[in-house]
Amino acid sequence: MYPPNASPVLALYDVTKVHGHGDAAVRALDGVSLALPAGGFTAVMGPSGSGKSTLLHCAAGLDRPTSGSVVVDGHALESLDETALTRLRRERMGFVFQSFNLVPTLTVAQNVTLPLEFAGRRSSPAVVRTLLERLGLANRADRMPAELSGGQQQRVAIARAMLARPAVLFADEPTGALDTQAAREVLDLLREAVRESGQTVVMVTHDPVAASYADSVIFFADGRIDGSLPRPDAATVAARMARLASAVPAAQAGGVR
Ligand SMILES: Nc1ncnc2c1ncn2[C@@H]1O[C@H](COP(=O)(O)OP(=O)(O)OP(=O)(O)O)[C@@H](O)[C@H]1O
Ligand SMILES: [Mg+2]
Repeated sequence: MYPPNASPVLALYDVTKVHGHGDAAVRALDGVSLALPAGGFTAVMGPSGSGKSTLLHCAAGLDRPTSGSVVVDGHALESLDETALTRLRRERMGFVFQSFNLVPTLTVAQNVTLPLEFAGRRSSPAVVRTLLERLGLANRADRMPAELSGGQQQRVAIARAMLARPAVLFADEPTGALDTQAAREVLDLLREAVRESGQTVVMVTHDPVAASYADSVIFFADGRIDGSLPRPDAATVAARMARLASAVPAAQAGGVR
């Protein structure tokens, strides 16, 4: 699919993240190293509280690791000040959340172009129109988010994340609030963005079927990588998750440490 020696678009080197202090400290990431080549679709799975969201937030520069290095598109995030990090995030990273996070008082088209405008860049109406068409939203451009279904709102959030052609698109449980059909449409779109535009996607999910849309799955347990599975199928992923869940002490299964 891509040359094996291609330099990674996202790399983590021995990343740790400790939330809180003293007795309340939680080691959410415990020495995570990984390298993802450009143009791949990677799913991240693991029990609740295993550190998946923390991983995504540190990789996307939304949160700072306690130690270690994160390199996105050739930039070591720890070497950037807040202004430079914000700029890199706007220009080279997209983020899709479970809860869509659209601005309710803006139209679909305005929501999609908002990050570019924050970055002081103009968006071409033709590019926005083509993107909305691709995501099945051509006739929704002037609607307000509240007039759309959950699946349509998530597709708007994906359009917003993709408009700047980010080096990496991060998605934290993007189908978590959707029914089966809407989830399938969102997953098809993400996979299509990878196949047709060479987009790199990293997606956290709890759903083995969602994970099966990815090129590979990284399993996470207790803040560490616990293996990976290329060309995943839902049944193998589900079996692996069941083993991981049974290996987690009950006190940790709900994220309590
Ligand atoms: N801001 C925070 N302050 C303190 N502890 C936190 C914070 N964020 C996360 N944690 C803790 O860090 C650990 C990892 O949390 P994280 O949200 O990354 O897990 P997750 O794998 O995404 O879980 P879920 O599947 O439930 O979303 C958990 O024990 C959690 O309670
Ligand atoms: Mg999470």
